[in-house]
Amino acid sequence: MPIRQATTFLQPAAPKDRAAWEPMWRAYCRFYETDISDEVTDHTWSMIVGAASPVGCLLGGAVDGPIAGFATFVIHPYTWSTSPACYLEDLFVDPEARGKGVGRALIQGVRDEAVRRGCTRLYWMTRESNVTARKLYDAVAKKDDFVRYVVPLSSPG
Ligand SMILES: CC(C)(COP(=O)(O)OP(=O)(O)OC[C@H]1O[C@@H](n2cnc3c(N)ncnc32)[C@H](O)[C@@H]1OP(=O)(O)O)[C@@H](O)C(=O)NCCC(=O)NCCS
Repeated sequence: MPIRQATTFLQPAAPKDRAAWEPMWRAYCRFYETDISDEVTDHTWSMIVGAASPVGCLLGGAVDGPIAGFATFVIHPYTWSTSPACYLEDLFVDPEARGKGVGRALIQGVRDEAVRRGCTRLYWMTRESNVTARKLYDAVAKKDDFVRYVVPLSSPG
């Protein structure tokens, strides 16, 4: 069921939405200069639309416009609380739809969904150099001083 606000709408991704989601997903992967295979894209979509999946996705756009953005999130157990936490994994708005509040609405929508699912916190990260996204993030959240470390692991054989 779409949630309409004055200037934007949001809706949970459903199986019929793959054709709207996939070009945005691919543009988002290009933005991050990452080569995501078709197999991974299929798997990601199946997690998004899977019943009882911890992965969710909101789609959104400017009112009276097409779907023009998405936010993917993961609800996971959280060792510092008896309640789960929500990680905002991916956020993207089509270039021609930017600056109209869609990104802000998507974050708000994920926040509402995290509250609905009993999460104790919503959090995310971005590149230090992503000035545009950080302007939005600085307006809706508080930056902390954690730094990310990564150990690449190969897939089990
Ligand atoms: C980051 C992104 C999702 C923002 O989406 P958006 O729909 O344009 O964001 P909004 O219109 O809701 O903007 C909200 C605020 O962000 C800031 N902002 C957004 N675009 C901006 C721009 N091009 N220049 C300066 N500030 C900008 C403004 O402060 C704006 O506040 P305002 O509404 O009070 O003016 C979009 O730019 C995007 O998809 N970028 C590429 C992918 C990306 O960086 N994703 C995030 C990865 S962590």
